[in-house]
Amino acid sequence: MEILRSGGVIALPTETVYGLAANAEDELAVRRVFAIKGRPATHPLIVHLPQAEALPRWARDIPPEAWKLAAAFWPGPLTLVLRRTSRATDAVTGGQDTVALRVPNHPLALAVLSALGGGLAAPSANRFGRVSPTTAGHVREDLGSDVDLILDGGPCTVGVESTIVDLSSGDPAILRPGGLAAEELEHVLGRPVPVRATSSVRVSGSLASHYAPRAGVTLVEVPEAAARAQALRGQGLRVGVLGPASLALPPGVPRFDMPEDPAGAAHDLYLRLREADLAGLDLLLACLPSARGLGLAVRDRLARAAAPRTSGT
Ligand code: TXA
Ligand code: MG
Repeated sequence: MEILRSGGVIALPTETVYGLAANAEDELAVRRVFAIKGRPATHPLIVHLPQAEALPRWARDIPPEAWKLAAAFWPGPLTLVLRRTSRATDAVTGGQDTVALRVPNHPLALAVLSALGGGLAAPSANRFGRVSPTTAGHVREDLGSDVDLILDGGPCTVGVESTIVDLSSGDPAILRPGGLAAEELEHVLGRPVPVRATSSVRVSGSLASHYAPRAGVTLVEVPEAAARAQALRGQGLRVGVLGPASLALPPGVPRFDMPEDPAGAAHDLYLRLREADLAGLDLLLACLPSARGLGLAVRDRLARAAAPRTSGT
């Protein structure tokens, strides 16, 4: 707590992925988060709150639908984008007139938030553009001594980042599919909530090349995976397949198992991408799961991992 009050940056567990947290009202500390991540200052951060009651301190013109979603899903893997109050500074919002807010569902994160009594600006605790960490060990590997403290709260239960819903103007829209299924949002709101490809708001997760492991990633359908792997191996490439355990592969082609239920796939996704990296592959063939439930988030992250890389990292 002293660390946060005096401008420090800590890694802390949430139910989705580990976050790199600083006191959201301390501009210098927030700037350190950007520096450690290597993230452009124009990409806004999520402010984490201890409970929904804190919402009006950070957001104004809060529509009834925001309260409805907060009541149904907080604490939980849902981030709401709302019009900001002056408490949400340009450093946090990237100069936008909106702020992203969520109450994480992890006892350690909630304990820290309650003790601080304020908001924690926290992006995922990985270097910009890399795979998000779902264990304290991942954070240590990626950020090591750059952070003042790493709180170990065990492996994240959800495994992919929160679902981001824009409620700042007009009809609700999903800006990033994530750990809360679109079906659940729609059920509570009683209407469809479309996924909106963002242009006016900057969502770093919407950059083409994001969530990328070091190996190249190519998307495939399950039935073609084995033959594609065999052909690529024939060309001398070290190739692996991310797919269901029931998939038979040619000798010498490692399989990185993905559960067939969507929540299980979301939970394991980043772990498997890290394992594929450690295996030193040239190419990972990734089988796309169904878009049902958290499958939408898994497909989204795999598509980004497979997108052309803009840099060597
Ligand atoms: O599950 C999560 O959301 C994790 C954990 C740590 O809470 N956090 C996370 O943070 O994924 P980050 O920074 O990696 O992604 C936050 C996303 C970014 O894509 C950012 O652009 C978007 O939230 N965002 C933040 N403020 C926004 C705003 N005002 N409007 C639109 N998007 C916003
Ligand atoms: Mg991230």
